[in-house]
Amino acid sequence: MPFPIHRPRRLRGSRALRSMVAETQLSPRDFIFPLFVVPGKGVRREISSMPGNYQLSVELIVGEAERVHALGVPAVILFGLPESKDPLGSSGALDDGVVQRAVRSLKKELPELCVITDVCLCEYTDHGHCGRIVDNDVDNDSTLELLAAQALSHARAGVDMVAPSDMMDGRVGAIRDKLDSEGFINLPVMSYAAKYASAFYGPFREAADSAPSFGDRRTYQMDPPNVREALREVELDIAEGADIVMVKPALAYLDVIAAVRQSFDTPVAAYNVSGEFSMVKAAQQLGWIDGERAMMEMLTAIKRAGADMIITYFAPDAAELINKESR
Ligand code: PBG
Repeated sequence: MPFPIHRPRRLRGSRALRSMVAETQLSPRDFIFPLFVVPGKGVRREISSMPGNYQLSVELIVGEAERVHALGVPAVILFGLPESKDPLGSSGALDDGVVQRAVRSLKKELPELCVITDVCLCEYTDHGHCGRIVDNDVDNDSTLELLAAQALSHARAGVDMVAPSDMMDGRVGAIRDKLDSEGFINLPVMSYAAKYASAFYGPFREAADSAPSFGDRRTYQMDPPNVREALREVELDIAEGADIVMVKPALAYLDVIAAVRQSFDTPVAAYNVSGEFSMVKAAQQLGWIDGERAMMEMLTAIKRAGADMIITYFAPDAAELINKESR
């Protein structure tokens, strides 16, 4: 019996009622905060397209991670800008590279913080692509050993989880094999399983100095029209040993998050990427949007779609707001 017996508005009349029937609730524990590590000392350089986010030298990373951890955010993910680059991205696997040093000091100073590392070559290659170049394209199979070597160097530094983001075929298996053969059988892999070739990575490439010097990433990252292919990618990565699977970007791919959630039992992560963050900040600066509300609406939507965890530059802002509102 519809209206006037049923009036859905009855449950929207107050803040208390709305919160009691809310189907999705955000918590600071849902978030993973990205950090950019650079060489040098005392470096704290704001990323112009990502207000409130900084490139930080190793000794300043700890303070920033501590601030975010104190707000209830359980994890950070590290990206490195190395001292030097070459065609094979070898500086990404150095025992005393920026990321490896940052991992060591974070685990020493903040042992309870979950430290994740992005495993990829694009920040470390002089051409900015995510692998070894052969005939003007990234060569899949010879890239795998480079990725495995980088992951192993992070493992040796004491990282809690590695997150390969390159989209080479077979890289989860190659990394799993390498970690297992070196004794890191319990180190989990969070795979960027369905990562699309997206315009929304623009600001990140400034932050990580990782724009490709020629061409684009369409021969290895996924094509935006495809969702069945995403399920296939996720299936392959789980078969290769992925412990957590990620969909990236998040907002233009909520259907992909939902499909992955429905099809697999593995925990699902979503990456609320740089462009999604910068659009809100820019519109807010222009006075065109309520940035706080837009932020909470986006993060809620990503969780509602099925993400168990969200990598987001909003982590500190959102955590602070959630903590304030729950008081
Ligand atoms: C690759 C990597 C990228 C991002 C995370 N890992 C960039 C790319 O694929 O070009 C993008 C993250 C963001 O935009 O916030 N190492």
